[in-house]
Amino acid sequence: MKNTAPAEKLPAPVHIGIIMDGNGRWAVNRGLVRTQGHLEGLKAAKRITKAASELGVKYITLYAFSTENWKRASEEVDFIMGLIKQYLRSEFDFSKRNHIRVRFTGNMEGLPVDIQKEITETIKQTAEFDGMQVVLAINYGGRDEIIRALKKFIQTAEKKHEDITENDIHRFLDNPDIPDPDLIIRSAGEYRTSNFLLWEGAYSEIYVSQKLWPDWEKSDLETAIENYQKRERRFGAETGNKASGF
Ligand code: FPP
Repeated sequence: MKNTAPAEKLPAPVHIGIIMDGNGRWAVNRGLVRTQGHLEGLKAAKRITKAASELGVKYITLYAFSTENWKRASEEVDFIMGLIKQYLRSEFDFSKRNHIRVRFTGNMEGLPVDIQKEITETIKQTAEFDGMQVVLAINYGGRDEIIRALKKFIQTAEKKHEDITENDIHRFLDNPDIPDPDLIIRSAGEYRTSNFLLWEGAYSEIYVSQKLWPDWEKSDLETAIENYQKRERRFGAETGNKASGF
C-alpha cells in the first residue's frame, strides 16, 4: 500500500559539497579579467564557509581545483594556486576562532611543493579543532580518487578480486571517516557533476543554482538547505520507504 502520510522534513544536511562555478562569467559580465572572478570567488568561499558553520553544517567540501583545470591558461592556473595559498594562510585565524578543522582531498603529489607544504601545515595546525570540517578539493578528480584508492587496495593484496566489496574501495578513499555528502550544490546553472565526489556522491541530492558563485550569500545557502529538506531520499528503495540503502 502506498504511504499517504505527509512527507516529513529531512534533517539538515550533515555534509554539503559545493561546485563553485561561474567565476569566469561573473568577471566577463563586468568587463573584468577572469582572475578577478576567482578573487571574488574566494571571498564567496569564505562567506559561505562562515555561513555553513553558523548554520550547523558539520562538513563542507569545496571544489577549488579539478584534475582537469590544469588545461587552463598558465596565468589563470598560477593565479588560482596563489589564491589557494592566500586562503590557507589568511583563514587560519578564522579557523582557530571557530574551531574549524581543515582537511584535504585530491592528488597531493601533483601540486606545487609550496602549496603541498601550506596544506600539510594547515591540516596539522587545525587537526584538534572540533567544529565544522572544511574539506578542500584541490587537484581533485573523482575518477583519480577511485584509481588512487584501487592502487592502495592492490598494494595490500589482501583479497582475491572476486571477493572485493564496496568497503574495500571506500576505506582507501581520501577521507573514509567523512560521511557521504547529503547535498551537492552547483552554482552558475550547469547540470553536471564534473568529476566531483563520484563515489561519495552516489546518493547525494543535487541542487543547481543559476546564481554565479561570486554572488553567493548566506541566504542562498539557506535556500539550498530548505530545498534539500523538502526532498525525499530513497537510496534506491521505492517511494515512501524511508529506509537507507546502506
Ligand atoms: C570555476 O569557475 C571556479 C574555479 C575553477 C576555481 C575556484 C577557485 C576559487 C573560488 C578560489 C580558491 C578557493 C578556495 C576555497 C581555496 P569558472 O572559472 O569555471 O567559471 P566559468 O564557468 O564562468 O568560466
